[in-house]
Amino acid sequence: MNPDKNKPIGFMDSGLGGISVLREAVKLMPEENFVYYGDSANVPYGNKPREEIRRLTFRVVDRLLEYDIKGLAIACNTATSAAVKDLRIMYPDLPLVGIEPAIKPAIEQSRGGRILVMATPMTIKQEKFRHLLETYGEGHEVVSVPCDGLVSFVENCMFDQELLNVYFKKHLSPFLTDNTESIVLGCTHYPFLKSNILEFLRTKHKRENIVLIDGSFGTARELKRRLREKDLLKETTGIPGHVEIINSSSDSEMVEKSYALLNMPEI
Ligand code: DGL
Repeated sequence: MNPDKNKPIGFMDSGLGGISVLREAVKLMPEENFVYYGDSANVPYGNKPREEIRRLTFRVVDRLLEYDIKGLAIACNTATSAAVKDLRIMYPDLPLVGIEPAIKPAIEQSRGGRILVMATPMTIKQEKFRHLLETYGEGHEVVSVPCDGLVSFVENCMFDQELLNVYFKKHLSPFLTDNTESIVLGCTHYPFLKSNILEFLRTKHKRENIVLIDGSFGTARELKRRLREKDLLKETTGIPGHVEIINSSSDSEMVEKSYALLNMPEI
């Protein structure tokens, strides 16, 4: 047997958001061991210059490599757009997946209406995002919604509907039209706000039929595919693996909050 199969899988994000991808990976590969690094000491990445995001991402990846990981998920749209190309060059033998806003699935499901893409200002500014829009968006109404500051709600596990309504009214409402059919959650923190977004749409806009789409399952599935391709999936034992969470913040509660999000019931 290939001994590398027993090594853990690394996950990184600027903070707690990547847990939304990790939980899909745990469901898909329950026997694997995972090491998750949240860089909450430096969150948010989404309004920092690209160079700084690259530097921070490389540092986190270095830390994860100390755990002798067999594969890596950059579970952060912002870090993926800023650094994934370089990481693939730096670690050509490491199975590595990034995440990008799920514009392609949104277009595949489209009924011809407007598609909103909520993401960090940095993700929206990147060449990678423009390329995604050019590749899949032609003939469709795809509109970017920069969500500066939304990540902080999740980092603080602050899911108060009234407060979030104030945020959404200012940042989301101006983009909502009668023909809006879906919203892509283009930042890994946002899936934890799904029920808050749906509640806002229902109560403030009388909209019950807008679909929320995110790339977490697709990314976890791709990670599994890459590991299988290299014969790195664990042998079937029926024994559940474990998840180790590390966080760069000096606030010791961040790790506790991370496990709480990992176990948060999904809608
Ligand atoms: N979770 C990250 C993403 O997917 C970004 C959050 C941040 O701004 O740090 O884009």
